[in-house]
Amino acid sequence: MAISLSDASVSRVSTSNESSENLLNIGVIGYGYWGPNIVRNFHGQQRSRVVTVCDKNPNSLQRVRQAFPDIQTTSDCAQLLTSPEIDAVAVVTPVWTHFELAKTALENGKHVFVEKPFTCTTAQAEELIELAERKHLKIMVDHTFLFTGAVRRMKEMIDDGTLGELYYYDSTRVNLGLFQHDVNVLWDLAPHDLSIMDYLIKEKPEAIVATGERHLNGVADIGFMTLYYPNNMIGHINVNWLSPVKVRTTLIGGERKMLVWNDLEADEKLKVYDRGVQMTTGEAVYQTLVSYRTGDMWAPRVEQIEALKAEAAYFVDCVMNNKTPFNDGVAGLHVVRMLEAADLSLQQKGRVVQL
Ligand SMILES: NC(=O)c1ccc[n+]([C@@H]2O[C@H](COP(=O)([O-])OP(=O)(O)OC[C@H]3O[C@@H](n4cnc5c(N)ncnc54)[C@H](O)[C@@H]3O)[C@@H](O)[C@H]2O)c1
Repeated sequence: MAISLSDASVSRVSTSNESSENLLNIGVIGYGYWGPNIVRNFHGQQRSRVVTVCDKNPNSLQRVRQAFPDIQTTSDCAQLLTSPEIDAVAVVTPVWTHFELAKTALENGKHVFVEKPFTCTTAQAEELIELAERKHLKIMVDHTFLFTGAVRRMKEMIDDGTLGELYYYDSTRVNLGLFQHDVNVLWDLAPHDLSIMDYLIKEKPEAIVATGERHLNGVADIGFMTLYYPNNMIGHINVNWLSPVKVRTTLIGGERKMLVWNDLEADEKLKVYDRGVQMTTGEAVYQTLVSYRTGDMWAPRVEQIEALKAEAAYFVDCVMNNKTPFNDGVAGLHVVRMLEAADLSLQQKGRVVQL
């Protein structure tokens, strides 16, 4: 396989089989809830393999050895972060640890794949971006939903004008738990919507309002975020760890069409409605005529792919071919900036925070 290796740190060649391939050797830190998905997808790629998994918890390491006997395990992340055998490090640990681990990885010449949200502060994100640039290394932030068939299809329909000018993006992302201890529910669940909105909507939000409340462990477990965009476009995100049922439903309203994305549907995740409202104004205000359009509904075909599989392949491609990922550190930074603004607003019971 001909791969242009423009980055000197990716040069390992497997000679174990005849079609000797260039392989990206990956170390994964964190094998809790999400880590196994990362390990499975990087280990299953043709052009990458997971060499070592690090976790502080011995039970996690036991699970690694059971599932992947060929992967080394360690509880000492310094060993992984300095290993000359490793080209790239995936950071799949709680948010407060992302910065230090990613920074050490970059300092040791490793490309990094970091979980969302990228860091705890914009200052940390900026420092990592600068460090990676200086060392000619890649950062990818795991904004998994950008690799789903549904989000890709919505992007096509927005870009080709099917929906027309956008009016709103309104998402409900609620379930019971999983409680995080180091971040509130906005930092845990809203990065999904914030990264999707950044990807789908050309404009950037100008102001944010957030409200929420804490009930159990000192951090907000229910939160509402409103994002104000230019041209009256508005975004709203409802996140909640205390919901009796799991809901993953997003409405996107456009001038020409409206759509519903129900991510819990096995088939027909997307439904597009030819519905809308038209106002015709007469000479006087009372002559305003409202006409409703209630046309057909259809379910566009959505590619059935495992998002993380596509994302892992994209990471390997970006590193091996020296491409800047669209979900790079800068994309991660923008999400963190919106979350910081949301926190500020939340602390002041919904004050408007300009971005
Ligand atoms: N992209 C997604 O859809 C998605 C989904 C879930 C979680 N996440 C993200 O993944 C990250 C981890 O979340 P989780 O739910 O798996 O958390 P978790 O608490 O279940 O797992 C974290 C693991 O990291 C280990 N760990 C913590 N600090 C460590 C250190 N310094 N060195 C080695 N091991 C360490 C812990 O022992 C634990 O096993 C978070 O950033 C979260 O936001 C992303």
